[in-house]
Amino acid sequence: MRNLSLGAFLLVILLFSSNSSEARIYVCKPSGKVKGKKPPPDHCNEDDSICCIKGRYYTTYKCSPPVSGSTNAILNLNGFEKGGDGYKPSKCDNKYHSDDTPVVALSTGWYNGGRRCLNNITISANGRNVEAMVVDECDSAMGCDADHDYLPPCDNNIVGASKAVWKALGVPLEDWGELDITWSDA
Ligand SMILES: *[C@@H]1O[C@H](CO)[C@@H](O)[C@H](O)[C@H]1NC(C)=O
Repeated sequence: MRNLSLGAFLLVILLFSSNSSEARIYVCKPSGKVKGKKPPPDHCNEDDSICCIKGRYYTTYKCSPPVSGSTNAILNLNGFEKGGDGYKPSKCDNKYHSDDTPVVALSTGWYNGGRRCLNNITISANGRNVEAMVVDECDSAMGCDADHDYLPPCDNNIVGASKAVWKALGVPLEDWGELDITWSDA
């Protein structure tokens, strides 16, 4: 009798733990691939490694990893000014933004069809927390075409941040570019 209830107890534990591990192994799977085309001569120089390479395939994602109170991401340096990398105005408000304003672009899944537009997120890195406003999408679902300035699709875990964010995080100038961070909705 005692052994039986112990067995039932262990079975319940087993069922619960297998259920929760199923929830934990959610992975954002690729949605497809895009093939790099040769950009027009005025767009990317031959030595510009940022542009898509002709014939190379780039993975696309419509989803991003699940958001938690502390979501891991890669912080990139992004321009939102007219004539900068912000070759088009930001998608949320159809405006350009100064490098001195803390603004970010989020990967497609986190951008979530614009649902985070003009909301703030808190970025944590380097022992600091910085609030920045979501103004744009870093498109992970498409790329390598004229519409995306012949740039590859974004990874699905990108927070593309203006100079102001990097400055506020206190990252030394020579390290600006790519940084492991966590973020949450502010
Ligand atoms: C969002 O963050 C910006 C920049 O840090 C700040 O100026 C603004 O007050 C914040 N907005 C809200 C609604 O908290």
